[in-house]
Amino acid sequence: MGDLEAVMRTNFACREFTDAPVPDDELVAILELARFAPSGGNRQGWRVLAIRDQVTKDRLVDLCLPAVHLYVAQRNAGENPWNTIVPSAVDADAIDATDNASVDWFRVIARAPVLLVVGVDLRVVASADSKLDRVGVVSGASIYPFVQNILLAARARGYAGTLTTFLSSAEPAAQDLLGLPSEVAVAAMVPLGQPRRVLTRLNRRPVSSFARLERWDGPPLG
Ligand SMILES: Cc1cc2nc3c(=O)[nH]c(=O)nc-3n(C[C@H](O)[C@H](O)[C@H](O)COP(=O)(O)O)c2cc1C
Repeated sequence: MGDLEAVMRTNFACREFTDAPVPDDELVAILELARFAPSGGNRQGWRVLAIRDQVTKDRLVDLCLPAVHLYVAQRNAGENPWNTIVPSAVDADAIDATDNASVDWFRVIARAPVLLVVGVDLRVVASADSKLDRVGVVSGASIYPFVQNILLAARARGYAGTLTTFLSSAEPAAQDLLGLPSEVAVAAMVPLGQPRRVLTRLNRRPVSSFARLERWDGPPLG
């Protein structure tokens, strides 16, 4: 259990890797653990493509770039990128004004030894909030525990990675590139490898800032 706690506390978002490969047997070991994730009705709709071909990795990252530029422009404007509640004031000019260097922090993931594209088969996903008049969140609950398990299992084996979602904004092109059927949604792209450096102090808010007793206006927990 001590190991689990250490892994959870140091499971940082890693985007830069050494050239050391992640062999197939290591990938299998990681996915063999990740598969114990929960999913709605235990339908296990996850599908994984492990991509090492450099041309494909470059193309996948290129597909993400419009979304990354929008993300950077929204961050520069003090907005919470991609949120569906507060309308964005960022226009096409502001997006054009973000230069290539401002997205380098993301582009580097093309050099990861392997990119995992994690899809989810929507034919088996229980989307209990699909009739509500807001963006769906429940569908993700059948795939992101699995992605988090990949990251934890990788970390425990000395690797690291990041959950990225920019590729979802270019889903049709990604499906076309990879031969994914249309019912398999692109949930995440996870670069994996040996980290160039390891972060051990993650910036997270304390429990008392987000948990309360009994009611929204109740006393803080912790
Ligand atoms: C739902 C979700 C989407 C994310 N999408 C991206 C992404 O598209 N690209 C990226 O580089 N990082 C992405 N991240 C990683 C976050 O930026 C990272 O988890 C956060 O900044 C904390 O980083 P840290 O663990 O190093 O402190 C995403 C994380 C989550 C949970």
